[in-house]
Amino acid sequence: MRLEDAKMIVTGAAQGLGAHISQRLVEAGASVVAADVNEEGLAKLAADCEGARGKLVVRRLDVSKEAETEACAREAFAAMGGLTGLVNNAGILRDGLLVKVDKESGQVQKLSAAQWQQVIDVNLTGATFMVRDVVATMVENKQRGVIVNMSSIARHGNRGQSNYAAAKAGLATNTKTWSLEFAKFGIRVGAIAPGMIETPMTQGMNQKARDALVAAIPVGRIGVPEDIWLGVRFVIECEYFNGRTIDVDGGLAM
Ligand SMILES: NC(=O)c1ccc[n+]([C@@H]2O[C@H](COP(=O)([O-])OP(=O)(O)OC[C@H]3O[C@@H](n4cnc5c(N)ncnc54)[C@H](O)[C@@H]3O)[C@@H](O)[C@H]2O)c1
Repeated sequence: MRLEDAKMIVTGAAQGLGAHISQRLVEAGASVVAADVNEEGLAKLAADCEGARGKLVVRRLDVSKEAETEACAREAFAAMGGLTGLVNNAGILRDGLLVKVDKESGQVQKLSAAQWQQVIDVNLTGATFMVRDVVATMVENKQRGVIVNMSSIARHGNRGQSNYAAAKAGLATNTKTWSLEFAKFGIRVGAIAPGMIETPMTQGMNQKARDALVAAIPVGRIGVPEDIWLGVRFVIECEYFNGRTIDVDGGLAM
């Protein structure tokens, strides 16, 4: 799909990767409904995109609320005069070991049910219902297009991230499932799996852990949002790309 023809919802658009991707899309002439729980961030994005070639509409959305994903898809179609896809990017971290021994008390501690469920609700269930509701609206209106899921190299397994890794692996697996299911509607599905990218999500990391990680990245640096945009752009533009997840990680997960 040509970027100037794209009419897409971007979730998690208030900051980080979602904001960068939304901005690049409207600069290229696309129409974007930028959706997030963070309305302040969305207002900043709208100001940053003023004067761009394309059209940006911002909208509050909690992807973990089923009624909201449905309404978002319907209203995005109306706002853009069509809907040709989704950048399924909203995500959260609630890291913790499944079982650990507290250093001071010696007590065995467990990952809380809430810590597990919050990540599953947003990163897997929310992301799945976004795909369901966007594709349903596209099919009802005979729209072809593309879904881009934001997975992670954590899908290969990562200590302290049972919840996050399971959700991101689920999203990568379903990228294949959905590409098989939606091909007959003319809808492709692809996923990007970022490595370590400089965004608010990763900026809280301590310097020692950061230095160790950079040392393990073959290209020798942390990624920037533009690296991920180039991957997303490829999935949107390349009509022969379908069903796969691409690691954009500087070689970290090899
Ligand atoms: N930054 C990285 O290194 C990295 C690596 C791998 C994967 N990812 C994935 O890329 C995506 C974007 O990450 P980022 O680094 O920009 O993170 P970020 O925390 O900077 O931004 C995430 C955005 O999602 C929004 N969000 C959270 N919960 C939401 C909900 N329920 N409904 C709607 N919006 C919600 C937040 O408000 C925020 O604006 C995430 O899915 C993340 O898991 C990031």
